[in-house]
Amino acid sequence: MNIIGIETSCDETGVAIYNSEEGLLSHTVYSQISLHAEYGGVVPELASRDHIRKLVPLIKQTLKQSTLKPIDIFGIAYTAGPGLVGPLLIGASVAKSLAWAWNIPSIGIHHMEGHLLAPLLDDHTPEFPLVALLISGGHTLLVQVERIGSYSIIGESLDDAVGEAFDKTAMLLGLGYPGGPELERLAEQGNPSTYRFPRPMTDRPGMDFSFSGLKTFARNALNADLTQKADIARAFQDAVADTLAIKCRRALLATNYKRLIVAGGVSANKTIRNKLQEMAEKEHASVFFPRFEFCADNGAMIALAGYHRFLARQDETLEIKAAPRWQLSSVSN
Ligand code: KG4
Ligand code: ZN
Repeated sequence: MNIIGIETSCDETGVAIYNSEEGLLSHTVYSQISLHAEYGGVVPELASRDHIRKLVPLIKQTLKQSTLKPIDIFGIAYTAGPGLVGPLLIGASVAKSLAWAWNIPSIGIHHMEGHLLAPLLDDHTPEFPLVALLISGGHTLLVQVERIGSYSIIGESLDDAVGEAFDKTAMLLGLGYPGGPELERLAEQGNPSTYRFPRPMTDRPGMDFSFSGLKTFARNALNADLTQKADIARAFQDAVADTLAIKCRRALLATNYKRLIVAGGVSANKTIRNKLQEMAEKEHASVFFPRFEFCADNGAMIALAGYHRFLARQDETLEIKAAPRWQLSSVSN
């Protein structure tokens, strides 16, 4: 079974073809970073226009790379939400048009389910049940995953998402967009003992997060000494990594599961990966990350999620569906 995956929820146009026996046949991602960089964040209207320009050529290119013909495609999976409404509508419209033209089924995928399943694109894949920590620009979720398609949220951020906190703190430090990778680079030169930022909400029980306060600590430290940017980046990153590890440990203990998936754009961060790996080893648990190229938004994770939906015999009408706000817990399989 060959599935095309289309991702256009934010500032990456991603297309991939997944085969149920052979795995990923081809995938391409076009990043709009340079388009938005001068504005310091994603400009939704510019993002929409660029998806319009890039999506169809990217589908043609990805199909060509896979050496398949449209007749070989079983179905189309596209990101139906959450995300920016304009970009989502473009992915959905193109997906539905192709489904109509090729007379094949289509299915809207929850973007965070895509992230969650990204580690399954590798050979060494986790079994279920497991805990998933999803950390991206818009979401911070701890999810109890009984099986593919059964998701209970057991923790989430009450304010900024982790990626958002990285981006805002990076901006404060005068770094470019997107701030996460740049802050990580700067933190490598930082001294870990100059500052100690709090580990928010770890002094009380529960698995929710709050990251907006860390930004204030970073601002105050910067105002006191403008020359310590690397040390501030280091203190911020260490605080985030420790907090995530503490909450993931609680989630493993609360569920009694021994497997943890960590996915989403921020899961590319090496300090966070190392901290979570360390914690999991202490708990005799295994941790699974996506390959670096599948941490950020991509079509491969959407194609894979689509495959599991089609396997569960789900598909949709040709009505164009875009859900900018959509709870992961309402996804079912
Ligand atoms: O999953 P993603 O590509 O898009 C969303 O669904 O939001 O995540 C993007 C977020 C951005 O906030 C970006 O700064 C952050 O992931 N990010 C990182 C790193 N790479 C990307 N944050 C920290 N360290 C990184 N290496
Ligand atoms: Zn994402």
